[in-house]
Amino acid sequence: MKSIKIKMLENGPIRLSVDSDEEIINNVLFDIRGNSIKIKKNSILCRCGKSNQQPFCDGVHRMIGFSCSAGEEDTFEGVKVSVMKRSSLDIEKADNTKYRLCRCGASQKQPYCDDTHKTITSKKYTF
Ligand code: FES
Repeated sequence: MKSIKIKMLENGPIRLSVDSDEEIINNVLFDIRGNSIKIKKNSILCRCGKSNQQPFCDGVHRMIGFSCSAGEEDTFEGVKVSVMKRSSLDIEKADNTKYRLCRCGASQKQPYCDDTHKTITSKKYTF
């Protein structure tokens, strides 16, 4: 079974990794326009919500002093990952369990999404 490993990095982005190139083909993200993007072997996704290359990290989190704990649980695994504009990082596990991780950096329940992103209106956020 293909497996995507997800790691929330302290004060930084989300790292997705897969074990082999073969698995990459079947796992797809969606960019801010809804276009599909294949997951590369190691993909770094924005977690601060302000990258100019969504859904990927462009390093802006360092310039804005993004501060966010990795959360009590910082490592996840799933078989399917999806990212839609202005939404969470959605993970599906092999047993069909689903969970949502924060991509805007504002959730009070890190690393999980608490829907705070729905209240963000600032144009500084690009997620
Ligand atoms: S986490 Fe790196 S640019 Fe947002």
